[in-house]
Amino acid sequence: MAMTAVRETPPASRSAPDAGHEAADAGLEAVFEATLAADERVEPRDWMPDGYRATLIRQIAQHAHSEIIGMQPEANWITRAPSLRRKAILMAKVQDEAGHGLYLYSAAETLGASRDELLDKLHSGRQRYSSIFNYPTLTWADVGAIGWLVDGAAIINQVPLCRCSYGPYARAMVRICKEESFHQRQGFESLLALSQGTPEQHAMAQDAVDRWWWPSLMMFGPPDADSTHSAQSMAWKIKRHSNDELRQRFVDICVPQAEALGLTLPDPELRWNDERGHYDYGAIDWDEFQQVLRGNGPCNEQRLTRRRRAHDNGAWVREAASAYAAKHGPEER
Ligand SMILES: [Fe+2]
Ligand SMILES: [Fe+2]
Repeated sequence: MAMTAVRETPPASRSAPDAGHEAADAGLEAVFEATLAADERVEPRDWMPDGYRATLIRQIAQHAHSEIIGMQPEANWITRAPSLRRKAILMAKVQDEAGHGLYLYSAAETLGASRDELLDKLHSGRQRYSSIFNYPTLTWADVGAIGWLVDGAAIINQVPLCRCSYGPYARAMVRICKEESFHQRQGFESLLALSQGTPEQHAMAQDAVDRWWWPSLMMFGPPDADSTHSAQSMAWKIKRHSNDELRQRFVDICVPQAEALGLTLPDPELRWNDERGHYDYGAIDWDEFQQVLRGNGPCNEQRLTRRRRAHDNGAWVREAASAYAAKHGPEER
């Protein structure tokens, strides 16, 4: 996906009121609103409110960071995959996640963000990535549980983003969701093999699901009542469904899948509610979520340290690529 970074001229400064500028801005804003109302896409060269641009950069960057940090917990098992087939699948999946990061950083660049700056914010802790990747992968079964639950939750979150109002983000998500769907299925298939294997393998699969279930539910973000950015993001059609709505959809999908796997979900309050037409589920430990967000999860330190080291080790590649580009010029690239 070749995307050129296009930085629109920011709207005229409001500190020097000018009737002409104000009228022009109002006209541009009306076009922007009409685009949203018609469910059409906002493109990089279109005028957009500063807040819309900033919200998208923050969200897309956080998403991109999650993709590349998310490579670490699973990469931990590549050398110890139980068969060549499993190893090849896992390598392909981890590589896909790097690709997702690439599409997303490119989408952020179309909004005028610099990739170096975004990575710097990740490395210095000024921008976040999904809290789920701060949990450890203790056994091989964790790879299956991540595919089934973490990639599964990602799909529920991301399918609506294919209709996001910002064109480059929406289009990146279409491709990403296709790959996430493969990730989810391979996780399910891997867990099924373990669940139907020896008693030890079954216990390992159950233990992994027990540890990943609640953190997966936290991936949908805080409850609607505490979600600070939601209302504006819904109005801008960046977000299409509330956190709780998506979380409920995930629970409803997972319960029958867990039955098919022959595994249980670690929630004694999980039961079908006829009146609501949904599964009820127990209370989520939001204190744990906040602790992990604040950097106190089991692996926060380890993930960022490894990420910074990988970035430093790759400096020579970036330098060589820049030198090559400078030597050959854009026409030969
Ligand atoms: Fe991904
Ligand atoms: Fe994935």
